[in-house]
Amino acid sequence: MMPEPDPNQPTIQASMVIRNIGQLVTVAQQPVPGASGPLQVISNAAIAVHHNNIVWIGANDDAEPIFQHDTHIRHDGIAIVDAQGAVVTPGLVDSHTHLVFAGDRAEEFHLRRSGVSYAEILAKGGGILTTMNATRHASTDLLMQLAEARLNVARTYGTTTVEVKTGYGLDKITEEACLRIINNLNALEDSPLHPHSHVRVVPTFLGAHTIPPEYREQRGAYVDLLVEEMLPSFVGMAHFCDVFCEREAFTLEESRRILTTARDLGYKLKLHADQLSASGAARLAAEVGAVSADHLDFASDDELDAMREAGVVATLLPGCSYTLRTPYPSARRLLNRGLHVALATDFNPGTSYCENMQMMIDLGMSAMGMTLEEALTAATINGARALALEDQIGSIEVGKKCELALWSINDYHEIGYHFGVNLIRSILALR
Ligand code: NIG
Ligand code: FE
Repeated sequence: MMPEPDPNQPTIQASMVIRNIGQLVTVAQQPVPGASGPLQVISNAAIAVHHNNIVWIGANDDAEPIFQHDTHIRHDGIAIVDAQGAVVTPGLVDSHTHLVFAGDRAEEFHLRRSGVSYAEILAKGGGILTTMNATRHASTDLLMQLAEARLNVARTYGTTTVEVKTGYGLDKITEEACLRIINNLNALEDSPLHPHSHVRVVPTFLGAHTIPPEYREQRGAYVDLLVEEMLPSFVGMAHFCDVFCEREAFTLEESRRILTTARDLGYKLKLHADQLSASGAARLAAEVGAVSADHLDFASDDELDAMREAGVVATLLPGCSYTLRTPYPSARRLLNRGLHVALATDFNPGTSYCENMQMMIDLGMSAMGMTLEEALTAATINGARALALEDQIGSIEVGKKCELALWSINDYHEIGYHFGVNLIRSILALR
């Protein structure tokens, strides 16, 4: 029997219903009817979507009459997706990557096994500069192909939004070419191989990654170039401006000048802060109103408090500690101080050659002291916060974009426990 449409029910228009979700881990920030636990989980759930926005979340049984009988969801041309009992979480948000570069640094990776440090290699003109050389000499087509292949790997591991930085051009022409590539990645159409899986790409300008060799003896002139030429010309091409504030890169004063100029031009701000030494960058992040400060290995308690007061997200990048074999910063220390903590890959050829956000969740739990709930929060809604996108993505809530990860597991408690393998079946990200 077809239930009669209830005239008191508001009509919900939907273009897609995702049914048969075994466990819907919403990570919702507002209470969701029928959901429980810190991550607001609903068993046997369904979601309705219209114009790529989530319009309804509820029990699968309640959705059946909706999509089958058109009681209050109109189903003209509606797409029904059967999740086949999958665990569904928000798509993973990787808020810190350096995805556009040519070449690799395997040699340096293995050299470090014999005790040479990352900072020594950079100071001797290797490290970032090795990748800069390879990137400057690569064609735009090759850079695009390499970046697209890496984006596809990230997608396979559940990433639906990824921030991508420039920073291996370090001259105006190459930095601009890299920004165009990043914007092109964002505009890529769904491929038949990956239907409904549009990865959102957020562009960041990191011309202040290190001083290029031609400016070695006149670093002030490179900062002038960044501030007077590159930043003004790249307005609209990058959402964020980032600076590597470190002994081997930019001083606190230089970083302040670059970031305040960027802010005045309308960029949002990020900082590579206190990764290799205590530089005062975490405090600078608070001072300039950065959206996030990333790394934070050497940040002091006072600086962390200043970040919290200023609403700066603390982004942890466990892939770096893994690769550099340095102590993992404690996530617990940041969480106890009331900071929003995000996890990201920092995918790059020097300190974290890994596109896989599940690995970061695993390391967040095994090496940084996070609970599963904290790690999943860090890899979803707090990643979204680190990109100032928390109103649109990062949790499964009515009004947010439909960007989902479908996991091939029966219970979300397998995440972090079953490690080193890919637990993602697919992503479902509409654009
Ligand atoms: O986030 N610290 C600076 N930038 C990257 C490393 C880049 C590189 O070594 O190529 C990072 O760790
Ligand atoms: Fe980085």
